Amino acid sequence: MKRKYTLTAKNADIYDLYEKSVQSVEFEVEFINKMFKKNNRGNCLDIREDFCSSAFISTEWVKTKNKKAYAIDIDKNVLKIALTKAKKRISTEQLNRLFLIQGDSLNKKNKKVNCVLATNFSYWVFKERHTLKKYFLNSLKNLKKNGIFILDAFGGYEAHQELEEKTKHKHFTYVWDQNKFNPINNHMTCYIHFEFNNGSKIKKAFRYDWRLWSLPEITECLKEVGFKQVDIYMQGWDKKKNEESDKFYSVKKCDADAGWIGYIVALK
Ligand SMILES: C[S@@+](CC[C@H](N)C(=O)[O-])C[C@H]1O[C@@H](n2cnc3c(N)ncnc32)[C@H](O)[C@@H]1O
Repeated sequence: MKRKYTLTAKNADIYDLYEKSVQSVEFEVEFINKMFKKNNRGNCLDIREDFCSSAFISTEWVKTKNKKAYAIDIDKNVLKIALTKAKKRISTEQLNRLFLIQGDSLNKKNKKVNCVLATNFSYWVFKERHTLKKYFLNSLKNLKKNGIFILDAFGGYEAHQELEEKTKHKHFTYVWDQNKFNPINNHMTCYIHFEFNNGSKIKKAFRYDWRLWSLPEITECLKEVGFKQVDIYMQGWDKKKNEESDKFYSVKKCDADAGWIGYIVALK
């Protein structure tokens, strides 16, 4: 007889839970390819995934023949976890095209790539304008001539609030905790907690100390370091389901929603 498996705080892997809760790597890979097509920048062959953590996007990226991914994280223990996960997910040939690199995304140089990625707001660790620009300049320098830099951002008035938001999954609940927000400098401390159906919890599985940057600030800094064009993509609305759709559109104006997520696409 098959024993019933229950996910609990004791047996859960926080990186698996993180990936299930906040990542959608097939979407991300498709979005990169779409941006290259839309902007007539040819075929995107290699990416650099900054702040890669478990390098989930890079692992998905190298599943396509001949494509390479350079995944950067400052934490060598996180990269060990990324390697263990990648070995389970991809073949040895694919693994040979995935480069896990320990380094500070702020100044780490690597072979020039078609696309640099900074997803899930990770670049918000840079809290001063000059540091943010230094990171953007490093990204520009790591790009080939026709390269594209893709970042994301969130905002809306709820982004300025201290709040908890719960999302129920089949075997666990994801809790996004905007624990502290200082309106003087927009510094925020956020946590991810996980709760399980048996009542157990993993509190503070991940912690983020960020500055909440606005879209105009990010756009200005990207242009000031030399990106030629910066486009903002906002999530569409599915009228039938009455919720955000999984499509993003390039827009110059949008509604002042309570909470939104957008992509910033910067062209070299
Ligand atoms: C929010 S998680 C990564 C998110 C992941 N990129 C995603 O899309 O879900 C943040 C990661 O950034 C790493 N990190 C923080 N500061 C860094 C830096 N200056 N350079 C490189 N990695 C950094 C942390 O070690 C952590 O693994």
